[in-house]
Amino acid sequence: MPRTTSRSDIEASTELHKRIAHLEQRIAELEALQEVALVFSSELRLDRLLALILSSAVDVMKANAGSLLLHDEATNELVFQVVQGGGGKALRQKRIRSDEGIAGWVFSKRHPVIVHDTSADPRHLTRIDESLRFHTAAMVAAPLLYKNKPIGVIEVINKKSGEQFTERDQDLLMAFAAQAAVVIENARLYQQVVTERDRLLIVEEQVRRELARELHDGPAQLLSAMTMGLRFLRQVITRQPDRIETEISELERLATQALRQVRNLLFDLRPVALETQGLRAALEIYVERLRESDNVQLHLDVRDLKTRWTPKVEAALFSIIQEAVGNAKKHAQPKNIWITAQRQGEKMILRVRDDGRGFDLAQVENSYAQQGSLGLLNMKERAEIAHAKLEIASQPGKGTTVTLSVPMQPTRA
Ligand SMILES: Nc1ncnc2c1ncn2[C@@H]1O[C@H](COP(=O)(O)OP(=O)(O)O)[C@@H](O)[C@H]1O
Ligand SMILES: [Mg+2]
Repeated sequence: MPRTTSRSDIEASTELHKRIAHLEQRIAELEALQEVALVFSSELRLDRLLALILSSAVDVMKANAGSLLLHDEATNELVFQVVQGGGGKALRQKRIRSDEGIAGWVFSKRHPVIVHDTSADPRHLTRIDESLRFHTAAMVAAPLLYKNKPIGVIEVINKKSGEQFTERDQDLLMAFAAQAAVVIENARLYQQVVTERDRLLIVEEQVRRELARELHDGPAQLLSAMTMGLRFLRQVITRQPDRIETEISELERLATQALRQVRNLLFDLRPVALETQGLRAALEIYVERLRESDNVQLHLDVRDLKTRWTPKVEAALFSIIQEAVGNAKKHAQPKNIWITAQRQGEKMILRVRDDGRGFDLAQVENSYAQQGSLGLLNMKERAEIAHAKLEIASQPGKGTTVTLSVPMQPTRA
C-alpha cells in the first residue's frame, strides 16, 4: 500500500472525527440548554433559581467559575447574587456601579463580550480580583435582557481546558441569558406576590390586635364599670334611696362614653360617610369625633375639597390622613394638628401637620425591618393607589408635615 494514500486517509478520518466531536459537543450544549429551560421554569424560588442558572452555564461552557449579577434599581448598582468558584462567597452581595467593570459595560451597552485577558482590559475591576486573590484570566459575559431591558449580567470565567472563549461560547451564553432573564422575572413576580400576601396577613393581624386592644381598653372597661355600678345601684335602692339619682347619672355618663367609643371604632373600621358623602364630609366627622375625645387642638380647613375621586382613591387618601393624625397623636405630643386641603392647579394638596416633637425619618426607615410597624409603609402604598405623591418632612423638635399631592383626575361627579 502506498504511503501517501494511507496518510490522506488518516487525515480525512481525523478531520471526520474532529467534526463529529464538534457536533457532539454542540448537541450536548443544546440538550443542556433545553434541559435547563425545563428545570428553570419549574423553580420559583429566586435564590435557588439563580444558583441553578449559573451552575448550568458554568457546566455547559466547561468553565471554572462564574457569577450572576442583578440590577438594583433603587441604587443603580449591580449586585453579585450568585458566585460559583473563583472569588466564591466573599464576592456575594458585593455591589458595583451599573456602568463599572466589564459587567457594567455589558449591562449598560446591553452587549455580550469576550475578554481573553482581563488584566489587559481597562474595564476590568482589578480591585475585586485583588480583594479575593483570584485571578480572572478569560471571561465571557452576557446581559440578561427582559423585554429588551437589562436586568443583570451573567459572567463565565476561565475555561477548564485553558483554551480561549470563542464566539460560539458567547452565542451559547446569550441563549442561556435569554432564557434565564424570563424565568428570573417570573420568579421575581411570584416572590412579589408572596411578599405582598405575607404583608397583608401581617397588616390584618396588626389591625386585629389594635382593635382588640382598643375594645379592651375602651368599651370593655366602661361596661365593666357599669356592671359594678348597677350592682351598687341595687343595694342603694333600698338602703340609700337618696343616692339613686347620682348613681343613675353616673351610669348614663359611662354608657354614653362607651357608645361614643364604639361608634368611633366603627367609624375607624369603615367610615360610611366616606362612601356616601365623600372625603370632605368624612374628614369633618372624623375631626369632630377626635375633638370630643382628645385634648389636642385640631384645625381643619378643607373648604377647597370639592372633588370626588373614585371610592378606592378616597378610601386610600382618608386612611393616609388617619394614619398621619394617629401618628401625630401617638408619637408627637403636639399642641396642634392641622389638616388642610388646598387646590393648586390640577393638584389637590392634602396636608397633616403637627407641632410635636418630630422624628428622624431616615433613621426610622432604616430600622423598619426590625421595628415591625407598618404605618409609614402603608401610607406609601396607599399613596400609590391614589396616584398621589407623598412627602413626609420631619426633624426632631420641629414637628412633622405629611403632604399628599393628588391629581384631580380621575374624578367623579
Ligand atoms: N408625627 C410624628 N411625630 C413623631 N414621630 C413620628 C410621627 N410619625 C411617625 N413617627 C415615628 O415614626 C415611627 C414609625 O411610624 P409608623 O410606621 O406609623 O409606626 P407606628 O405608628 O406603628 O409606630 C413611629 O414609631 C415614630 O417613632
Ligand atoms: Mg403609625
